[in-house]
Amino acid sequence: MSTLTSSSQAIELEERYGAHNYHPLPVVLARGEGVFLWDVEGKRYYDFLSAYSAVNQGHCHPRIVNALVEQAGILTLTSRAFHNNVLGPFEKYLSEFFGYDKVLPMNTGAEGVETAIKIARKWGYERKGIADNKAKIIVAENNFHGRTTTIISFSNDENARKSFGPFTDGFVRIPYNSIEALTEALKIDDVVAFLVEPIQGEAGVYVPQEGYLRQASQLCKNKNVLFIADEIQTGIARTGKLLAVDHENVRPDMLILGKAISGGLYPVSAVLADDEIMNVIKPGQHGSTFGGNPLGAKVAMAALEVVKDEKLAENAEKLGVVFRDRMQQVVAKYSIAKLVRGKGLLNALVINDSEESSTAWDICMGLAENGLLAKPTHGNIIRFAPPLVMTEEQIHECCDIIEHVISGFNNQD
Ligand SMILES: Cc1ncc(COP(=O)(O)O)c(C=O)c1O
Repeated sequence: MSTLTSSSQAIELEERYGAHNYHPLPVVLARGEGVFLWDVEGKRYYDFLSAYSAVNQGHCHPRIVNALVEQAGILTLTSRAFHNNVLGPFEKYLSEFFGYDKVLPMNTGAEGVETAIKIARKWGYERKGIADNKAKIIVAENNFHGRTTTIISFSNDENARKSFGPFTDGFVRIPYNSIEALTEALKIDDVVAFLVEPIQGEAGVYVPQEGYLRQASQLCKNKNVLFIADEIQTGIARTGKLLAVDHENVRPDMLILGKAISGGLYPVSAVLADDEIMNVIKPGQHGSTFGGNPLGAKVAMAALEVVKDEKLAENAEKLGVVFRDRMQQVVAKYSIAKLVRGKGLLNALVINDSEESSTAWDICMGLAENGLLAKPTHGNIIRFAPPLVMTEEQIHECCDIIEHVISGFNNQD
């Protein structure tokens, strides 16, 4: 196995041997530390994506790396055919950290969402008395919950769905951020749950109006419908609180976590709920070979310790204000920048051009040239989500880079 020394060589190999299911920026990364990434040529970049908010603790955080290395030499995987001596402590740790009775550990975010869907349906049939195969789950327009066939069944992104049917039944899609629409949908028979992202990340960092999550959770409670928060992208301090629902003091009936729960070192996801919900799952009804393995469990505990000890939520809250403030000035100064929105360090800059234009992509190329990595979400929206271990001085330096690149594009008007 050889190590690649040039970007073009690495890109050629991916082109030739890898499925073309992504369209990455032409940057080949070889090393990461904290808020920084280095490409194979040794150029340094600020990471402003954090692997889609999986690396909130910064790249290769020493405490998390140590936990991984230490456990890797002891025991990595037993499957759930047997107990292991890390799973119990991990489940206790996670349950207490987030305030739920129980946890069901999985690996990827999509698996976490699938798990929540299965538990909600089973709860509907066995606890709510819904007739077999009738359960419905309300979801939001422009949602993004992953890539499995069931999850894309309730997406309205044609690119994600086209030619992948037939789809899974049992979902009702309503406009995001509309209490009226949710009120109406909750009148439909056999609804078991409302599954929602507290902020729609992939869609372009859409923050709902204040009070939406609180009202939505209350409406669900009134109707004995489970309020399920997908905090895979928004959770683990990203938005300035441990969870995005904490901004409105909402406690979801089911909480789905992934990504930064393990600081980007290892895929870990989890569904949390109280006994009356979680106990519908019995042996043999759900699982995963790797789910709850001791390696992932140790990594996740270390990753959450870092979030707590380094006060990452507080830092995200503080730097988020600085970032949006600086970007507001950019928006005021340069017509190519239309608006900035977000919470904590999950933000988006909307570019004043059509969704089909390449301007946002070109700006990201310019940012990369100037040492900052970000990527458009949809057409003309650039998501900015740096690791939460950034300093105030660094975020100002990053804002300088963004402003410099944007100013160059403005001159091209
Ligand atoms: C809100 C949300 N849910 C689910 C997922 C899917 O997670 P994974 O890619 O780990 O399957 C993502 C990934 O971006 C996400 O942002």
